[in-house]
Amino acid sequence: MANLRLLSAVAALGVTLSLTACDIGGDQGSATAEGGTLVLALDQSEEHPSFRALEDFATRLDEETDGRWNIRIYANGTLGSQQDTVQMAEDGSVDMMVASGTLLENLNPDFALYGSPYFFTSIEHQMSVLSDDTLMNELYTSLEGSDGLTVLGGFTQGYRNIYTTESGITTPEDLKGSKLRVQESPLMIDIVSAMNASPTPLSYGEVYTSVQSGIIDGAENNIVSYVTTGHYQVAPYMSMTQHQIGTDYMVINTDSLNSMSPANREIFDAEWDETMALDTKLWLEETETMKQTALADGATFAEVNEAAFRERLMPVLEANLEDPENREIYEKIQEKKP
Ligand code: GCU
Repeated sequence: MANLRLLSAVAALGVTLSLTACDIGGDQGSATAEGGTLVLALDQSEEHPSFRALEDFATRLDEETDGRWNIRIYANGTLGSQQDTVQMAEDGSVDMMVASGTLLENLNPDFALYGSPYFFTSIEHQMSVLSDDTLMNELYTSLEGSDGLTVLGGFTQGYRNIYTTESGITTPEDLKGSKLRVQESPLMIDIVSAMNASPTPLSYGEVYTSVQSGIIDGAENNIVSYVTTGHYQVAPYMSMTQHQIGTDYMVINTDSLNSMSPANREIFDAEWDETMALDTKLWLEETETMKQTALADGATFAEVNEAAFRERLMPVLEANLEDPENREIYEKIQEKKP
């Protein structure tokens, strides 16, 4: 069922997929209460930890449900940008997608709080919060009524840093006049502006060519994405601003989720929890491996004046804490610090 809708959406997007008649036939009509194929859209490459963890999720789900439930992953942004695929998840033409918190912030501004500078104090802290269903239930179910989407949990995006075509960024002063790509997110515009640069909203897939053609002077992201996208080849100077520990949320069409029988749902939830833990493990390993790859290829990773950046970034967090409800959430989350 899911794939029929996928095919019409794909046709509308003009995307060419290598689905064989057999693939499609195999999935048609298979999404009953007893099983089906979930189509998952991801904008990362196959070497990215999210892909590897999700591939493992698909294998385990298939095994544990005796082949009743499968996940088919479309990586590399084949089905479109996150902006495209979140809409496809809303209308059910894809079942699942990985969405940056900065994208979900456009559907519900409450997501912005969790992406504020210094909101999470470490990846360990972040993951203990993201896997706490009681703490996160309100946020995770907040899109069900408006968008028909449920959040299952999330993956770390690690620490995000600035990277540029020119070297020498150690204080916010050095960023004056620099045009940096940001995600299409009011929060990221605030963060990059606070660091003194000029934010240019673009989608992830547009960054490489925009740097290459000189439209922007750089961007900000984590080390893993910096390397898997090849951005380090065109902007080889990463400055370790650590201005955000970002979150990628796993989003599923609520009807697709509810189409599982209670027994299958229990398996699905347990395997998903394991996927979050696996992703974190891969993330920590890959951050170091990717850094070594980039270093060997001529990229540099420079320390910055941390206090100078903190002074500019704290007010972004504080502005998000002016709302008493947000402050209450923040305080509860700080209690989860390891
Ligand atoms: C990271 C994150 C993605 C996001 C991307 C971006 O790679 O994992 O979800 O889309 O950053 O900067 O757009």
